[in-house]
Amino acid sequence: MKKFLVTIDGPAGAGKTTVSRKVAELLDYAYVDTGALYRGVAYAAKQHGISPDDDKALERLCLELNLDILRTDQGSRLYADGMDITDDIRTPEMSMMASAVSARPVVRKALLSIQRRLGASKNAVFEGRDMGTVVFPDADIKFFLTADSAVRAMRRYQELREDSGQSLEAVAADMRKRDQNDTSREAAPLKPAVDALVIDSSHLCVEDVVNEMIKAVERRRQ
Ligand code: DC
Repeated sequence: MKKFLVTIDGPAGAGKTTVSRKVAELLDYAYVDTGALYRGVAYAAKQHGISPDDDKALERLCLELNLDILRTDQGSRLYADGMDITDDIRTPEMSMMASAVSARPVVRKALLSIQRRLGASKNAVFEGRDMGTVVFPDADIKFFLTADSAVRAMRRYQELREDSGQSLEAVAADMRKRDQNDTSREAAPLKPAVDALVIDSSHLCVEDVVNEMIKAVERRRQ
């Protein structure tokens, strides 16, 4: 049977990860968090002392780096050269660094083939910024999940509160900077695909968004 591909794009804090995981679980599809791949490159760049604007070094790093997402008993885990770095990439520093390296065309090009390989053989939900516009323009269904920036900052603040100790203002400032980077870059900027279903989650709970997506997938599959 032909595989079915769902893409979910949108800005940070819109609820993409929670929603994408649930949608994938309910459909029994694979779930791929492509932001984790950019975070993986950022983490490896930091380990090697590579600056996010050093294209030559980034290109070499991407050629040599072996990134993989594996499904384990503890959910999906990111490995870089065989090392589990899932927990190391979730810091505010890695968020900003991932946003910086993701603006470099050399990095986007290297990750494009990895993402297409991961999407080649199975039903899947892909979460990211350019899934519907660049990586999978022929996806079976595309969603763009967004929310008011104050709501997104509050959600991210509540998510990070225990670990990072960042104030709400600092989280909101980081988010504004990242929104600006991700939407204004020349390479694959964040924007809805022309054929994406746009969902504003500002006043919706997770279950409402998930239900709306599942219904849309079911209609499309018929
Ligand atoms: O989804 P996230 O916050 O983990 O993503 C981290 C950064 O990676 C984000 O600021 C932009 C970048 N990214 C991207 O450019 N393209 C993707 N498909 C996924 C993430």
